[in-house]
Amino acid sequence: MGAAGAAASLSDFVLDLPGHVSGKVREAWELPDGRRLLVTSDRLSAFDRVIGLVPHKGQVLNQLAGWWFARTADIVPNHLLAIPDPNASLVIDASPLPVEVVVRGRLTGSTSTSILPRYLAGDRVLYGHRLPDGLRPHGPLPQPLITPTTKAQDGGHDQPITVEGVETDGLVERRLWRRIQDVALALFERGSQIAEDAGFVLADTKYEFGLDSDGNLLLIDEVHTPDSSRYWDAANLDARLEAGQAPEGFDKEAVRLALRAAGYRGDGTPPDLAPSVWTETSTRYIALYERLTGLPFVPGEQPIEDRLRRNLAGLLG
Ligand SMILES: Nc1ncnc2c1ncn2[C@@H]1O[C@H](COP(=O)(O)OP(=O)(O)OP(=O)(O)O)[C@@H](O)[C@H]1O
Ligand SMILES: [Mg+2]
Repeated sequence: MGAAGAAASLSDFVLDLPGHVSGKVREAWELPDGRRLLVTSDRLSAFDRVIGLVPHKGQVLNQLAGWWFARTADIVPNHLLAIPDPNASLVIDASPLPVEVVVRGRLTGSTSTSILPRYLAGDRVLYGHRLPDGLRPHGPLPQPLITPTTKAQDGGHDQPITVEGVETDGLVERRLWRRIQDVALALFERGSQIAEDAGFVLADTKYEFGLDSDGNLLLIDEVHTPDSSRYWDAANLDARLEAGQAPEGFDKEAVRLALRAAGYRGDGTPPDLAPSVWTETSTRYIALYERLTGLPFVPGEQPIEDRLRRNLAGLLG
């Protein structure tokens, strides 16, 4: 694992509560009252694996998701109930739908589920969408596209599926899937607008949805964070693309690219990356938070574990 800043980072976190489930980035506890406690660590995942630790990342993700949930609640209700600690959220425990709803505004990406590598290889029908010839790498798509993947089970990789396939494979029932697509495109439009006002391009993002105990649709997990999205600096984007350079990203794409450059394709133990990759990613996650929200990023008290335990004491009863 990347060691830079590890002393100040939140890796694993244990609470004396039942119902514990461990994700790649989050530790969760299913509380007996229908709520779920999510603690966001500083772990960074890429290629569906934990690769290393990024200082302050957990706090940035938790607080930025909260900020975006408030700015999208008029489009779709979400799971967020409270933020009892900079790294923790109390949410409605939902039944997650088995599909990751990826929305893309740009022809980009570096992983096998991304559309740029496949477009460059000559593919013109991607996730069931036909693309014209002559699109420029990292340039805008004719319109934002939904490119779903199935949600990988433990240790697996997310698999691409077409918009029609989600319905015909029985992952989500037809009317609900229609609604989800409308909601996802509206969320992406909102996200793109707010990002643009802050000088960013929201290139693509991923949404997760769930149903509450009454069967109502909820936006769950995280929204428009630099883990679930690609964000680019708008100011230098055109000049960089003209010069044949990649966009300047404020997300984890730099980690994916560094892994690729080291020959990693997603299988086996990931290579160690230079410490600068981790510190630079931390700086960028914080810069994104500050520019989007217009608020200074104030790191929570350290050590994070002690602070979490204090702030969550009420739940531990
Ligand atoms: N309100 C909710 N109810 C039930 N499950 C939820 C809710 N919000 C998020 N989840 C689930 O909790 C998990 C969050 O953990 P984490 O972010 O570590 O996910 P992951 O999918 O393992 O990793 P990655 O985000 O890197 O793909 C996800 O499986 C997500 O679907
Ligand atoms: Mg996740």
